[in-house]
Amino acid sequence: MPLPESRNNFKMENKGINIPPDKLPKHIAIIMDGNGRWAAARGLPRLAGHRAGTDNLRRIITACIEFGIPYLTIYAFSTENWGRPAEEVRGLLHILEDMIDRELQELHEEGVQLRHIGHLDRLKPRLRKKVIDAVELTKNNTRLILNVAFNYGGRDEIVCAIRRMIKDNVREENVTPDLVSDYLFTAGLPDPDLIIRTSGELRGSNFLIWQGAYAEWYFTPTYWPDFDKKELQHALEEYSQRDRRFGQIPTKR
Ligand code: IPE
Ligand code: IPE
Ligand code: MG
Repeated sequence: MPLPESRNNFKMENKGINIPPDKLPKHIAIIMDGNGRWAAARGLPRLAGHRAGTDNLRRIITACIEFGIPYLTIYAFSTENWGRPAEEVRGLLHILEDMIDRELQELHEEGVQLRHIGHLDRLKPRLRKKVIDAVELTKNNTRLILNVAFNYGGRDEIVCAIRRMIKDNVREENVTPDLVSDYLFTAGLPDPDLIIRTSGELRGSNFLIWQGAYAEWYFTPTYWPDFDKKELQHALEEYSQRDRRFGQIPTKR
């Protein structure tokens, strides 16, 4: 049974978190990093880390719904990740397919709208169809927009946007930041307010390089499979204390 639209119902959705809704990010983006090191630390193959990471993603989706976060973007596979050993790439593609097979129905029932950013053209037709069908099935859901960055790269996205603008004969004087945003894969979505990167790496790795211009960053040494609801809550608490100035003068102090 589809759940009622309740994104704006703070009391109902925002369980277990003591942050005023206007201090919560509307859009969280996550660089889910550290699966390989999580597995290595346990003497397991890297793919076991990716599976544990996928299980964790399911938990974090639930936590975002509970906390009343309307938009979540996850970095699942970058344009650069094709450079990994073929066996790992195959495993990651398999895990994506498996996740759709196992979780789609439940996510749909929970009111999750799935979207994809990046390119599907390198995927096998069967997997490509599964992604397209999942997006189609869930397109009217509104409780959480889950935007999956798979075969995604920020530079690639901007190059695609420029090519399409040229194709559309966009006039030079009409090229504005808003127009560029409308040509990106994320057209129509708000920019991320908070970008989380797990595993201790302090870099962006080609993720949302345009959209993240004014995002707040949260870095943690925790490997992605161990990044739990409690730590998400901690990231949200930290975010709520930040003074987002957007180049203006401080509003606090
Ligand atoms: C992130 O974990 C998942 C993907 C990039 C697909 P990694 O696989 O990068 O894990 P580490 O960084 O090697 O530990
Ligand atoms: C970024 O992690 C990509 C994803 C999490 C999907 P990587 O592990 O690929 O990034 P680098 O190599 O540390 O920059
Ligand atoms: Mg990594």
